[in-house]
Amino acid sequence: MDPLVTFIGLGQMGLAMSENLLRYGNIGKPLTLYNRTKAKADAHNARLGHCKVAESIAEAVSSSDIIWSCLQDEVAVEQTFEEIYSLSIEGKLFVDSSTISPKAANFIAQRVLDAGGEFVALPVMGEPTMAISRSLTGIASGSPAAVDRIRPYMQGVVCRNMIDLSGEDPEIALLLKLMGNFLILTTMETVAEVNTFAEKCGVGTMNMNKLMTAIFPNPPHAIYNHRMLSGEYYSAVPVVEVSKAITLAEHVMGLAKASSASVKLYEVALEHLRMVKEERGSAADVSGIYGVVRLESGLSFENVTE
Ligand SMILES: NC(=O)c1ccc[n+]([C@@H]2O[C@H](COP(=O)([O-])OP(=O)(O)OC[C@H]3O[C@@H](n4cnc5c(N)ncnc54)[C@H](OP(=O)(O)O)[C@@H]3O)[C@@H](O)[C@H]2O)c1
Repeated sequence: MDPLVTFIGLGQMGLAMSENLLRYGNIGKPLTLYNRTKAKADAHNARLGHCKVAESIAEAVSSSDIIWSCLQDEVAVEQTFEEIYSLSIEGKLFVDSSTISPKAANFIAQRVLDAGGEFVALPVMGEPTMAISRSLTGIASGSPAAVDRIRPYMQGVVCRNMIDLSGEDPEIALLLKLMGNFLILTTMETVAEVNTFAEKCGVGTMNMNKLMTAIFPNPPHAIYNHRMLSGEYYSAVPVVEVSKAITLAEHVMGLAKASSASVKLYEVALEHLRMVKEERGSAADVSGIYGVVRLESGLSFENVTE
């Protein structure tokens, strides 16, 4: 029989991931939905059908074999799991796709195992648009048997691909995810700086764009290049709010310092994020890095498309 699934946390990512699970996942019906603000779960249910909205975490957990969560931050995950440990969870599989600290992932996994459940840490790489198009990369760690239970919901369902860390502690998946974020932020820094340099020295961003799309035709360079050159870095709805990016980047910096890793490029990118927040407020998009690199170079924050 197809397993019954509950999805907890219907934010930007959770809405898309739960919809894809329902549409493409061969899961038992109904899919149970739980969200702290219940109105969002009700609206999602009204749109999708084949779902049931749980009134409480206890109800959400009791009705399913697999409980998948994607919550805002560590506090949200800890508060949610505090309610879960005391429930009857023998044999149930908990999958968490939130970005939390590696240590917290290990702690939560152990508490779940102690209570008789199974746990897979499944942080994801990719923005909400990629969640909608099933283009996320999932990074899975946990016992091989537990990872096997989520394998049918990875490629072509919730994700484009899965990095399989079966047998590794949950913290390894979270560490790798944070290093993925490192790659993204430093790529954004590179694209912001090279476009500013191109403009300042007379090459122009159009020519730079030709070179960049020729040698780096695929994301992430192409995505950030478009967001910067089109002006979306200041004019569009933020994809990732800079205040959230700073919290994450400060956490990554703490991990790098604790392991004596030299991450100077990352330090510069973090400084630029803080400047974006000062210039444009907490809700500005993370790619506003381009704006502050331009300011440092004597240009205006906003670009003028060539
Ligand atoms: N957005 C991205 O580009 C992206 C990419 C990769 C990974 N992620 C990770 O995926 C996770 C979700 O991101 P998102 O963009 O979907 O976030 P989001 O849109 O801000 O949604 C956050 C969700 O967490 C819930 N929540 C917040 N605080 C809570 C609490 N104390 N107790 C219970 N529920 C709580 C919210 O419920 P309410 O509706 O009641 O507020 C909402 O369902 C985060 O860990 C993020 O780091 C995000």
